[in-house]
Amino acid sequence: MSKIIHVVGARPNFMKIAPVIEAINASAARRNRTVTQILVHTGQHYTPEMSSLMFEQLGLPTPDYNLEVGSGGHGQQTGRIMEAFEQVLLKEQPDLVVVVGDVNSTIACALDAKKLNIPVAHVEAGLRSYDREMPEEINRILTDAISDYLFTTEESARLNLVGEGVDGGKIFFVGNTMIDTLLKHKDAAKTRPILNQLNLIDGNHNTQAYGLVTLHRPSNVDKSESLKELLTCLAELSKDLPLVMPIHPRTKANIEKFNLMHLVESGNFLLIEPQGYLDFICLLSNAKLILSDSGGIQEEATVLGVPCLTLRENTERPITISEGTNTLVGNNPAAIVKAFNAALNSDFSEKRPKYWDGSAAQRIADILLTHLH
Ligand code: UD1
Repeated sequence: MSKIIHVVGARPNFMKIAPVIEAINASAARRNRTVTQILVHTGQHYTPEMSSLMFEQLGLPTPDYNLEVGSGGHGQQTGRIMEAFEQVLLKEQPDLVVVVGDVNSTIACALDAKKLNIPVAHVEAGLRSYDREMPEEINRILTDAISDYLFTTEESARLNLVGEGVDGGKIFFVGNTMIDTLLKHKDAAKTRPILNQLNLIDGNHNTQAYGLVTLHRPSNVDKSESLKELLTCLAELSKDLPLVMPIHPRTKANIEKFNLMHLVESGNFLLIEPQGYLDFICLLSNAKLILSDSGGIQEEATVLGVPCLTLRENTERPITISEGTNTLVGNNPAAIVKAFNAALNSDFSEKRPKYWDGSAAQRIADILLTHLH
């Protein structure tokens, strides 16, 4: 019998872990093995649209533990998670801890586990933006340095890890579990009524052309000047193509704090609350393009064949550029306008980098059950 603890904390974690839990259950049943799976939610994200709505739509089990750490500075949030998660580990004594992605919950729980000599598996290991000002980059490097199983989504990740001295025997190229989730739900997502609710369908049942925008990176939204410049540029673009913008709580708070609402009001924006998973995928599938500073959206846009203009100077997901629909445009207005026009005048099709085939979680489950006794 084996016991596995899975950790989630923030919105982008939920879709990465859901297929892993499901695949381990299926693999264990096939092998007549008893595997106890425990789900821990650190509570890094906690409002319904950032958390519980995702659980419902993804069919995730209710967490066995919710550590309810909430928001805070990096040290405070990471510290609170570590203190609370250590107690869970001491009580449950698992054989393995699975962490995903690059948020504060990822490193906090990996560090707790390793200090107690519990093996750690990192799903989405090895991605590097080579920008150490990003909190996520620090989380990635540190988590990978101490993990025992490094499950990678694209081939660049192995090179990054080996370059940092990671033993190649720990690295497993399995594909992308977030894409497993996307492929499972994309047809259901397309039938959601969100486009109607937002009046984006006309009397002839045609979808009005629109772009989608998501912004939440501290480098774009935490400084008044950067946010102002970006919103000014987006407001200009929205005169050519209406822009639907589900607004992240960090961004909303900063637009208010820096008194920038007039810029939003000057453009043709449809400002909406953060959406649940299915509604967001519906909006993304039907968009003419997306402008975003998210990590995962670059990958989802690639698979859905939607041009993605990434409002960052770098990406830790280079395959979305070399094989996908992604273009790095930074936050320079002239570059954004140029790429925007180019994207609207080009044809894009759905792309599937290697192992982005819906079976990544199954590969992870098979590897873990072979190694765990
Ligand atoms: C976190 C992750 C980031 C990920 C992003 C996805 C880290 C370092 N950052 O950033 O990698 O891309 O999640 O959203 O782990 N808030 C709410 N409701 C919530 C959660 C937060 O209103 O459920 C508000 C709080 O005021 C908080 C702010 O949003 O201060 C930012 O949340 P936080 O978790 O600190 O960072 P994110 O920007 O969401």
